Amino acid sequence: MFVYNAWYMGAWADEIKPQGLLGRVLLDLPVVFYRGEDGKAFALEDRCCHRALPLSHGCVIGDQLQCGYHGLVYDNKGACVKVPGQDRVPAQAKVRSYPVVEQDAMLWIWMGDPALADASLIVRHPWHSDPDWTWVKDRYSIKANYQLITDNLMDLTHVGYVHQRTIGGTPQAHSDADTKTTRSETGVKVTRWMMDSVPPPSYVAAFKFNTPTVDRWMEIDFFPPAAVRIHTGAKDTGTGAREGNRMGGLAFMGLNMQTPETEKTTHYFWSGARTYSVDEPDVRAKLLTSLPVTFAEDKVVVEAQQESIDREGGAPLVMIASDAGLVHARRLVATLLEEEARAREVAGIKPVIPIRPVHDAMQKQEHAS
Ligand code: FES
Ligand SMILES: [Fe+2]
Repeated sequence: MFVYNAWYMGAWADEIKPQGLLGRVLLDLPVVFYRGEDGKAFALEDRCCHRALPLSHGCVIGDQLQCGYHGLVYDNKGACVKVPGQDRVPAQAKVRSYPVVEQDAMLWIWMGDPALADASLIVRHPWHSDPDWTWVKDRYSIKANYQLITDNLMDLTHVGYVHQRTIGGTPQAHSDADTKTTRSETGVKVTRWMMDSVPPPSYVAAFKFNTPTVDRWMEIDFFPPAAVRIHTGAKDTGTGAREGNRMGGLAFMGLNMQTPETEKTTHYFWSGARTYSVDEPDVRAKLLTSLPVTFAEDKVVVEAQQESIDREGGAPLVMIASDAGLVHARRLVATLLEEEARAREVAGIKPVIPIRPVHDAMQKQEHAS
C-alpha cells in the first residue's frame, strides 16, 4: 500500500542525459523517464501498449518516445501518434503519463491523480545549488520496505551502535541526548542535542576541533510520505551552538528520499552537503569516502530487519521511548493512506491502476479482430 497522491523523488536529474531515457519501477509501477529535445524531462508508463516491451528499450526522437520493438511512437502525454505501416492509430493506443518536476538537481514524480499535482508541495533542498556548500549523492537499492528506512532516520539513537566506525560517538551520549519530538507544519521534527560529547571518528577526521569534546546537534525533519532532511553538526563545547551560534563548527545537511520500488524494495536516494572548506580538494574526497560507508551501514541493518520481519510474519514489536519520531511519522503516512482510500471510494476509483497482463490485452485484441 502506497500513498499515490504525493511527490516522490524518481531520479537524480543527471541520471537522465540529454535525449536519454531511464526505466525504473516506482510504487510497483513501471516508469520510463526521458528528456526531450530542449532537455525537459517527461515520464511515461514503461510498457508499450502493443506487446508490452518496456519503452525504456526504445529511443527518444525529439519530444517523443519510440518503442524499440515495432516502432510505435508516443508523444510526451503518452498518446500513440504513429504506428509504422498503417495510417490509423487505434484510439486505445496510449500509455500513462506522469507529472514530473525538475528541481534542486532532482526529478520529482507524481504517481497519483495528475489534477492534484501541485509543484509547490515538493520538498525544497536549495543546498544542492548553493556554492557555499559542497555535496555528494547516490542511490542505493535497498531490499526493505521504505518505512523501515524512515524509521531508521527518525530514531538516531542507532548512530552510537550502527555507525561506530563513522559518525557514531559513544552509544551512551546518543541515548542521553536531549531529544524533543514535535509535529511540524509539514510533518514531524525531532531535535537532539548531545552536549559536551566525544566527537565521532568521521568528524575528527574531517575537522579540527579545539576542545576534546563538542556540542553536537541533530535536527531531523520528516516530510510525508518518504523524505527526511537531517541537519547535523558539532562545535567546540561551550561556544554557543545551542544558543544559535553555529558558525565555526562542522555542519552537514543530509537529504534522504526513500522512494518505494515495491513493497519490499526501495530506491534510497541520499545526499550529504557540507558547509566549510568547500575549496579544499581533499574535503570532497573525505565526504565521498565517509558518507557512502555510513549509509551502507544502515543498508545492512534495514535489509536484515526486513528478512527477520518476513520470517516472523506479524510477530509483535515492543515500543520504547526513542520510537516517538518514527511513531509520529508512521501515523502521518497511515492518515494519508486512509484519506486517499476514502477519496478513491467516494470517486469510485480502483485502488491502483493495474499493470494489464499481456495475455488479457492479446485476448481482447483477438476478440476485437
Ligand atoms: S511492443 Fe512496442 S511496438 Fe510492438
Ligand atoms: Fe544510520
